[in-house]
Amino acid sequence: MRLKSSLIPTRPQWWPTGLLKMEADKIRQTFLDFFAQRKHRVVPSAPLVTEDPSVLLTTAGMQPFKKYFLGETSPFGPRVTSCQKCFRTSDIEQVGDESHLTFLEMLGNFSFGDYFKEAAATWALELLSESYGLPLERLRFTYFKGEGSLPADLEIKEIWQKLGIDSSVILPYGRADNFWGPTGRSGPCGPTTEIHYDLTGQPCSRGDQCQPGCGCGRFVEVWNLVFNQYYQDESGNLSDLKQVGIDTGMGLERLALAVQGVNSIFETDLFQPMIERFDPGRKNYHRQPAPYRILVDHLRGLVFLASEGIEPSNVDRGYVLRRIVRRLIETVEELGIEPEKISLSLEQLEEQYSSVYPELKGSAARAEKVLNQEKERLSRAVKKGLAQLAGPGRQISGQEAFKLYSTYGLSPQELKKQGYQFDQVELERAIEAHKEVSRRGAEKKFGGHGLKEGSASPGADSIKKLHTATHLLQAALREVLGSGVHQKGSDINAERLRFDFSFGRALTEAELAAVNRRVNQMIQSGLSVKKSRMSLEEAKAKGALIIEGQTYPAEVDVYAIINADGSICSQEVCAGPHVENTQELGCFNIVKEQSSSAGIRRIKAVLKDD
Ligand code: ALA
Repeated sequence: MRLKSSLIPTRPQWWPTGLLKMEADKIRQTFLDFFAQRKHRVVPSAPLVTEDPSVLLTTAGMQPFKKYFLGETSPFGPRVTSCQKCFRTSDIEQVGDESHLTFLEMLGNFSFGDYFKEAAATWALELLSESYGLPLERLRFTYFKGEGSLPADLEIKEIWQKLGIDSSVILPYGRADNFWGPTGRSGPCGPTTEIHYDLTGQPCSRGDQCQPGCGCGRFVEVWNLVFNQYYQDESGNLSDLKQVGIDTGMGLERLALAVQGVNSIFETDLFQPMIERFDPGRKNYHRQPAPYRILVDHLRGLVFLASEGIEPSNVDRGYVLRRIVRRLIETVEELGIEPEKISLSLEQLEEQYSSVYPELKGSAARAEKVLNQEKERLSRAVKKGLAQLAGPGRQISGQEAFKLYSTYGLSPQELKKQGYQFDQVELERAIEAHKEVSRRGAEKKFGGHGLKEGSASPGADSIKKLHTATHLLQAALREVLGSGVHQKGSDINAERLRFDFSFGRALTEAELAAVNRRVNQMIQSGLSVKKSRMSLEEAKAKGALIIEGQTYPAEVDVYAIINADGSICSQEVCAGPHVENTQELGCFNIVKEQSSSAGIRRIKAVLKDD
């Protein structure tokens, strides 16, 4: 259907005149009804505890349907709609901002070899503008502009135009933003079109450059429409799928933000009453929202994880639960919240969600038990852990700090509070190595075939390569953006690197492309990597990069990457390990650039074999 111009609301620019208000429950039901009326079968959410070996918990609405995209006949028919429980550990650190969560409800409509781009786009527009009453002038539409051997998706651009969307708000983006999947190592994937919502109607200081993805937070991605047309194998090769498919995902919480005309997901009716209970009048919340957001997000996560029988432990899903429960305990303490309010909130969460997810019945009691047991374990551990440390020295190694964290639950913050000092990098690395072991455990347990066992550990190998790539990335960023760029954080697993650095705005497409190109040049030039040991003073005098605010031992290792002419390409104080020659790294690809926190950007990147 083509939207008639009379249907396109002409509303004043300023929010929220004439906006249709709708409660989240109604928003969820409206979505499912809309697609049911268009011959979709409404399928209940699959559990968070998934059989998919490539993830610990369900992270996307399409996961339970992965095999139907690959040609297996769907018992639900070729059109399906669902509201899927999802849990994204990758976003844990971002919870606290306006739009990130660990647990979320993902609305989606799916086509397995049935309708394709035109119907998906038409329905999306009809639903957003007519059923939800969103003003079209607040929406932006992105599409895949093509990259490498992958062609641009001009078809969807034309479809949006045909539906009456002005070309000026249909915007081209690269693979990092507008290409989705596969989840895990292999599976269906393809170009996407994303619908973003303009929260403020006002550009930031970047003026016309303030577009979806801008670090100022003006836009929030609401709906992702994936056009599954390729299959990616484990080596990253793409082939055409036998049948094309549609996979869409729209976070209920973000949709509610837009429909209810508020500034953050935490101000929707999904969270607001709970925040109000913890902070009547919400004065403290407005001064310092992050801990309250962490509190309500983690409480919800706890209820849903506990409802599926997960128990805190040091591996797999248990470790995910332990992380959020321990953070929850710290946050409750920090905010001085009474235990009765926590109990009440758990009960309220159970009640709020049981009609949608019947398996939640009884989960408040289960969640409370998990919380109390973990609290006890933690306080015992703190006593024991601190007793272990009794002695004159307050300088401990990163490994020791990790052991106190993993065995006794003594968080690095707690240790610092007690006056202990340790090497943060060594600690982070130990945590990463632990996560890797945990992830591999999950794969083995659930029948996966990701990382093979054996003497040479491909996981470790991959982490080593990504670690060297991180050094190249930092060097390239400093070349392209200037020496004001400094490392602020790093997180590496077998799949990807994540690098946080100081920079005041989002990178432009051109800057990102230049950084990506430069890293690949460094790789292709086959630069050698040299390690030398020296005093910290000497390393600093040589200009080796260090991380501000970090404690280093007196003697350090410096890894230098040497240009062909003998000059230094990169030089960092680092514990390693690294590859010996950059040629080993394969092909470097930035997959995402985003804001991490004020003044800090985050890049995620992967390495693929050439
Ligand atoms: N599977 C896509 C996502 O999760 C829609 O964003």
